[in-house]
Amino acid sequence: MAVMQQVVLSSGRRMPVLGMGTATYPVPPDEIITSAVIDAIELGYRHFDTASIYGSERAVGHAIATALERGLIRSRDELFVTTKLWCTDMHADRVVPALQESLRALGLEYIDLYLIHYPVRLKGDKQMVFTSEDVIPLDMPTVWEAMEKCQSLGLAKSIGVSNFTCRKLADLLSHAKIPPAVNQVEINPVWQQRKLRDLCSEKGIHVTAYSLLGAIGVFWGSNAVLECEEVKRIAQSLGKKKEPRYA
Ligand SMILES: NC(=O)c1ccc[n+]([C@@H]2O[C@H](COP(=O)([O-])OP(=O)(O)OC[C@H]3O[C@@H](n4cnc5c(N)ncnc54)[C@H](OP(=O)(O)O)[C@@H]3O)[C@@H](O)[C@H]2O)c1
Repeated sequence: MAVMQQVVLSSGRRMPVLGMGTATYPVPPDEIITSAVIDAIELGYRHFDTASIYGSERAVGHAIATALERGLIRSRDELFVTTKLWCTDMHADRVVPALQESLRALGLEYIDLYLIHYPVRLKGDKQMVFTSEDVIPLDMPTVWEAMEKCQSLGLAKSIGVSNFTCRKLADLLSHAKIPPAVNQVEINPVWQQRKLRDLCSEKGIHVTAYSLLGAIGVFWGSNAVLECEEVKRIAQSLGKKKEPRYA
């Protein structure tokens, strides 16, 4: 793989533009994720995206340790690792401990980018599926202050958000001392988020896209992108076909 292009975030830190996601459902055994991440490092990937809710942090951490042992990378600093605060920890007192727990699972001393996963606070146990009945009031200014503390403590080199709309971003910017460096959102040919991208560009917030091919997931999404004739034509002309996720 050619040297990965990087972007400089508003925090001053560099982020490789292409990252490998580690969310799968149902969550496979750790070895599957670990070996996929090691393969990706060998291929030249340097940016990995995990989250406390994905159940992949431990496996990603193991892959990083193995890559170091095998000399695939010289130092952890060569990698850019993103993780995310889950909605059940969206309370000022829980943010730093949640990040410390993620760091323990990853076996890392710091995270490159810590994101608020969703602008929502949930009651109950940590779980991916939730309904409106699980949503409880949220005090974003104090949660963001705690995110800023993660950065000032050096536990996170950059902080940001995910799944924030224009309105949620504008609210956040009205009180943030450190503006979010990134907003990670769904973007694909049938969901281009132009208004949000314009706002982020104006405010110096880097937009990271997920579900580029759409999300035919268990929880949401449609096959509108992968079933699109143009995409099929491109795939065919390149001799690409869909491979099973893992054996
Ligand atoms: N911040 C957030 O809220 C959020 C939400 C979603 C994702 N993410 C991050 O973004 C990463 C990527 O997520 P994603 O939704 O794009 O999931 P994905 O699992 O990479 O792909 C989504 C869809 O595209 C298909 N696909 C992927 N690669 C393909 C290929 N080479 N050829 C044909 N089809 C392919 C998948 O098929 P198969 O299922 O058959 O593999 C699936 O249907 C996640 O792992 C996670 O790190 C973040």
